[in-house]
Amino acid sequence: MNCGFPKDFLWGVATASAQVEGAAFEDGKKATIWDAFCRLPGAIRDGNVMDVTCDQYHLYEKDIALMKELGVKSYRFSFSWARILPDGTGKVNEKGLDYYRRLIRCLKENGIVPNATMYHWDLPYALQLKGGWGNRDSVKWFTEYADVLLENFGRDIDLWVTFNEPIATWVGYGLGSFAPGLRDEKYARQALHNLLVSHGEAVKLFRAKKLANARLGIVVDVWKHYPARPGNNEDEAMALAANEIAGFGWFLHPLFLGGYSEELTEYMKKNGFTPEILEGDFATISQPVDFYGLNFYNGLYDNADEARRIRELEASGGNYQERPEQHPEAIYDVLHMLVEKYRIKVPIYVTENGYIQLDEDNGTKEDFLEDPERIAYLTEVIRSIRRAIADGIDVRGYYVWSLLDNFEWNAGYTMRYGLYHTDFGTLERTPKKSAGWYRNVIENNGLDV
Ligand code: FCB
Repeated sequence: MNCGFPKDFLWGVATASAQVEGAAFEDGKKATIWDAFCRLPGAIRDGNVMDVTCDQYHLYEKDIALMKELGVKSYRFSFSWARILPDGTGKVNEKGLDYYRRLIRCLKENGIVPNATMYHWDLPYALQLKGGWGNRDSVKWFTEYADVLLENFGRDIDLWVTFNEPIATWVGYGLGSFAPGLRDEKYARQALHNLLVSHGEAVKLFRAKKLANARLGIVVDVWKHYPARPGNNEDEAMALAANEIAGFGWFLHPLFLGGYSEELTEYMKKNGFTPEILEGDFATISQPVDFYGLNFYNGLYDNADEARRIRELEASGGNYQERPEQHPEAIYDVLHMLVEKYRIKVPIYVTENGYIQLDEDNGTKEDFLEDPERIAYLTEVIRSIRRAIADGIDVRGYYVWSLLDNFEWNAGYTMRYGLYHTDFGTLERTPKKSAGWYRNVIENNGLDV
């Protein structure tokens, strides 16, 4: 059946090492910044640590069987740097490599295309002790790590991603709510610059290796902000700042257009946050990639009056927990923006899209298994992607976040994104309604028209 998607469209599911693997200190793996951050009082909403999570390190065959059940064509996962190079650089941990060899072999035996991310936020703690991404040496550290990955798995992986969502490093170094928990904008701007240069150096390394069939890209999440009241100066300014100064423009501009945007350059200059930029950095950052990975969760409408109300509420000790309005259709406009504003000419994969179930809204396992809101949300996203493809935008794949409920960073186990429910006591996986729905989507290569 042709439901508007190209014949080889890659339907997939996504996870990340720190969120699903567990085995945090097993077989030679050492601590990451997240293992450390979890142990800070109050850092994680439910006070949990990432030592076990879904235990995919031991249960990967079971999880690949679930993927088989769904019929997915591709699995997006990430490598744990500290499992492979426990100290970040230097001695390679054979047992770590061996785990990924087994995982990749099992995927291939099941006809599932591996899509692997080098860095999904879990920096080895040993490197944080040397300043982490804020240290320019991070470029060398990352290149060494990328080299180990490409030497060992270069040809086995079809789709390589250097970085997942650079913005997380802003949340960790600038806002303090992710690992490593720093609040220093100047240092954070430098960290992100170093990270972008690391990406570019990894692209060069990848090209030098001439790996037949393997392709490499980067994943930048786009939470596009719109003024809630178009024409209202305050709303317009809020949305612009959210997009350009602390959002996707920070990364997409140097990656695809070259250099930081005018708005960001001005802002950093005015506030003394301009990072140290070496000659050639921007050329390195904008090395051509083979594809772009879009993580899309929502479109947001900024209302300055509403923002003031929330700030006042929070200042007086209140807790703002409302679920934001859902705008799944915004992905259509985002895809157009990528091509029209950022002139992205390479194929696009939607590398993550998902829907949260919150502990406070649901409760029992039975409640979580019924997820019509997730189905409705994902349906609208898929429909919008189909419209973009009909307009001629080259979207080649779509990955649901996530295969199974996992450790949702600073929210711990309080947010569930899985197509499968995870019981974090017994580690039992149970399909939600959406799992059966997604199986159908894949089988039909899209939604019934
Ligand atoms: C994305 C992250 C992913 C997961 C989802 C819900 O921003 O890349 O690890 O946490 O959000």
